[in-house]
Amino acid sequence: MSFTQTVEYLKQKGITQPEFGLILGSGLGDLADEIEQPICLDYSEIPNFPVSTVEGHAGELVYGQLAGRWVIALKGRFHYYEGYDLETVTYPVRIFHELGVSKLVVTNAAGGVNTDFVPGDLMIITDHINLTGANPLIGKNIQEHGPRFVDMSHAYSAKAIEFLAQIGEKYQPMKRGVYTWLTGPTYETPAEIRMVRTVGGDAVGMSTVPEVIVAQHCGMEVIGISCITNLAAGMQATLNHEEVIEVSQKAKPNFKKTLLEFIGEYA
Ligand code: HPA
Repeated sequence: MSFTQTVEYLKQKGITQPEFGLILGSGLGDLADEIEQPICLDYSEIPNFPVSTVEGHAGELVYGQLAGRWVIALKGRFHYYEGYDLETVTYPVRIFHELGVSKLVVTNAAGGVNTDFVPGDLMIITDHINLTGANPLIGKNIQEHGPRFVDMSHAYSAKAIEFLAQIGEKYQPMKRGVYTWLTGPTYETPAEIRMVRTVGGDAVGMSTVPEVIVAQHCGMEVIGISCITNLAAGMQATLNHEEVIEVSQKAKPNFKKTLLEFIGEYA
C-alpha cells in the first residue's frame, strides 16, 4: 500500500505535527469534538484510507490541539470482522507514525470477564492476549517499518499506566487488566469466556490488538483504555450492541475528563 500519497495529502491539509494519535472506539469518538480549531476529514476523502462500516463509528479523522497538545484522532476504527485484512486495519497507525506521532492512545468498548468489574468501569490495559491466531505483521517484513521479531514485553507503557491511574483517582478510579482479542463479530459463548478467564484475560473485545502490535513495530509508546460496557457472555442474561453504546455514553464524561488531563499533562 502506498503510504506516501496518504501522508502527503494529510500534510497538505495542514496535519504537520501530531504528537498523540488517538483511536477512539465504540461510543467514545466524542473526545475528538473537544479538539480546538479542528481539521476534519472524512475517511472517504483521504487517498488509500479504508471506510468504516460499523454503526456507532463516524468515520472521520480530526487534527488539532487537545489540552494544548497536537493530536490526530480517528473517530471510528477498522475492524477485522468487517472483512478488512490486518494491513488495512492497521493502516492508520502506520500513517500516524509517518506523520510523527510518538504516543498512541487506543480506546475500546469491551466485555468484563474479571468478576470484580461492573459495566461503566474504565480499565487501563496493562497487557493483551491475542486469541485470534491472526497478526498484522505476518508476511514479508519491511525493515524500514520495524524489526522482523517484535518485543511485546512492554507493549503498554508502564509509565503512562501509572500516570493515567493517578489521574483516574480524581474522577473515576480505574481498573487495570488484560485485554483479550477475539475476532467477533459474534459475541463470545459462555464457555469461551470461562476459557478467557482461565488464561488470564480480564476483558474481551474485537479490536485494538492489531493496532497495538503495529504501534510496537513502529516504536510508539502505547496507552490503552477499555470501557467495560457489559459483563461478558454467561455473566449477564444477554448481550447487544445497543447496550454497549448506551453504557459507553454514560461512562463518557469521566472518560473524557481523565483522558483530556492525561493528554495535557503527560510528559
Ligand atoms: N465481547 C466482545 N466485544 C465486546 C463486548 C463483549 O462482551 N462488549 C463490547 N465489546
